[in-house]
Amino acid sequence: MSTNFKRTLITTALPYANGPVHIGHLAGVYVPADIYARYMRLKGEEVVMIGGSDEHGVPITIKARNEGITPQEVVDRYHTIIKDSFREFGITFDVYSRTSSKIHHKTASDFFKILYDKGEFIEKTSEQYYDEEAKQFLADRYITGKCPHCGNERAYGDQCEACGTSLSPLDLIEPKSTISGSTPVLKETHHWYLPLDKHEAWLREWILENHKEWKTNVYGQCKSWLDMGLQPRAVSRDLDWGVPVPVEGAEGKVLYVWFDAPIGYISNTIEMCEKEPEKYGNWEKWWKDPETKLVHFIGKDNIVFHCIVFPSMLKADGSYILPENVPANEFLNLEGDKISTSRNWAVWLHEYLHDFPGKQDVLRYVLTANAPETKDNDFTWKDFQARNNNELVAIFGNFVNRALVLTHKYFDGKVPAAGEATDYDRQTLEEFKSVQAEMERLLEIYRFRDAQKEAMNLARIGNKYLADMEPWKLAKTDMTRVAAIMNLSLQITANLAIAFEPFLPFSAQKLREMIGMPECNWAHLGHFNLLEEGHQLNEPTLLFEKIEDSVVEAQVQKLLDTKKANEAAAYKANPVKENVAFEDFMKMDIRVGTVLDCQKVPKADKLLQFRIADGLEERTILSGIAKYYPNSEELIGTQVCFIANFEPRKLRGIMSEGMILSAEDADGKLVLIQPRMKVTNGVEVK
Ligand code: MF3
Ligand code: ZN
Repeated sequence: MSTNFKRTLITTALPYANGPVHIGHLAGVYVPADIYARYMRLKGEEVVMIGGSDEHGVPITIKARNEGITPQEVVDRYHTIIKDSFREFGITFDVYSRTSSKIHHKTASDFFKILYDKGEFIEKTSEQYYDEEAKQFLADRYITGKCPHCGNERAYGDQCEACGTSLSPLDLIEPKSTISGSTPVLKETHHWYLPLDKHEAWLREWILENHKEWKTNVYGQCKSWLDMGLQPRAVSRDLDWGVPVPVEGAEGKVLYVWFDAPIGYISNTIEMCEKEPEKYGNWEKWWKDPETKLVHFIGKDNIVFHCIVFPSMLKADGSYILPENVPANEFLNLEGDKISTSRNWAVWLHEYLHDFPGKQDVLRYVLTANAPETKDNDFTWKDFQARNNNELVAIFGNFVNRALVLTHKYFDGKVPAAGEATDYDRQTLEEFKSVQAEMERLLEIYRFRDAQKEAMNLARIGNKYLADMEPWKLAKTDMTRVAAIMNLSLQITANLAIAFEPFLPFSAQKLREMIGMPECNWAHLGHFNLLEEGHQLNEPTLLFEKIEDSVVEAQVQKLLDTKKANEAAAYKANPVKENVAFEDFMKMDIRVGTVLDCQKVPKADKLLQFRIADGLEERTILSGIAKYYPNSEELIGTQVCFIANFEPRKLRGIMSEGMILSAEDADGKLVLIQPRMKVTNGVEVK
């Protein structure tokens, strides 16, 4: 669908203010959004970029309780850290606000009220566990107890991570509140639900028919959700931290964090417009005018909320536009492992800024070069060093430095005359022009990684040009030709300052200062008269510097230390169990089988249903690992280990004949145990 839009509204996922931000945030959401926003601004388009902190939700209240401070103090601390990190990295938000603000509370409250008055919610009463000591209802994750299936004493209210069964808190034997340790009691409560099932039909048409151009990862996730059938979703919670439900008799109830947070995009837009009405105009033009193009930048764990839930909320209101695109990214891993806050497996932005002062662009460059646009990607310090040394320093920095230093040497830093172009010159200019068109095409379809590659190609063209022309040799014989070569090199340099502005804003600005080009406009890209003859350049300094081995080795060591600490903690959390006799071990029948089919169980978020070729015949096994294998079809054809003599049991009406083995990481993530090489189906694991 291509409509002609007048303006662009960019939103960026609001990070939870319960911890600092790391490279995964930057790579997945904020750098791509910033590249897009900067590019649009360079083109002179009307564009705004909205950001802010997501300051509600249960984890924030738990953190506050654990630290003996108020939730407000928790979010105040992290909001500041997060906001500062983003500013330091040159993420150009037009507004960066927060969901604990007055204006957000009012906006979210009014939003709910309108839907409520229109009868867009349904109300339901149910029994939920209540912690009488902490005086609060308990979210599923905050109840532990004995698993009714395997006897594991530390099963959670939503899942037993020992046997993978998905649970409801009511299934737990001897439930305990993780907040106070006391035994919770059942209490009646009622909540408001958004009946997503009623929105299914238009969502199907809007996404599956009209937005086939969305990224395949986004489209695919939406399709799988829609194909499973949508259910009503509760939009309120029993909690005292959040936006109070604006209905009589709703004391002690707040809007569910995933209901209020996306409304934060709207509140922050309102705040921005109220602060600078001349610059931004009326907020409604950004949210209610069909000529506004709304684009949500998010990570893949947010897809359903931005493609299904929030659009349903907007549609239920009826006066809002819907997103035109949701270019969600996959995840960035760190040195082969999933980034995890609880395992402290991350490169924190505030720590990077401390360890690498002035090198924001290096990280921006590497994260874009390695962006998880179509699949999960890995950040390694080795790659970080290599990209800096071999690309930023050796290509971009080297070319610019030679162009400027030679101009100072031969022409006192004044732009020399262009002179007559040779065939080679003309060919260089031609290459340049095609690169620019290609960059635009890629940026428009959110392929920032390839677009940046094109920008680096421009530097490569310049580098090659200088190396081939060897002006330093001609300087003894043909200064007219040297002038022409340097002129062209300087024009290329000026072009680089434009081409890299969206990606490497600090370096682009530094470069503009060196060449005395205050203006920067996308339309000038591909032009070769950007610096006039006689124009005085400033003293050149290096744009990038080499990163030594010792520097990245220190970062790797830091991660190794983290790993050691996590391993020790894993043993502390789960001490080694009592010894078992060999005969006892031999009672366990663990075997290998091949996955013939693997699908999500409808209406059970966590369960995957496996069909396994076990060597004799086929069997069905359910496993609660759906969250960790969103693309479950990728498991088909791989081999897994399962307990073959595990007592069969019925889950969600399906007979599960065995248990599939996974390793549970320190943060609860489950990873399948799979043989490293193919073995015969049915063989034993000993
Ligand atoms: N805080 C959420 C997360 O980090 C994202 C919220 S995005 C918004 O996953 F739409 F709710 F704002
Ligand atoms: Zn269990």
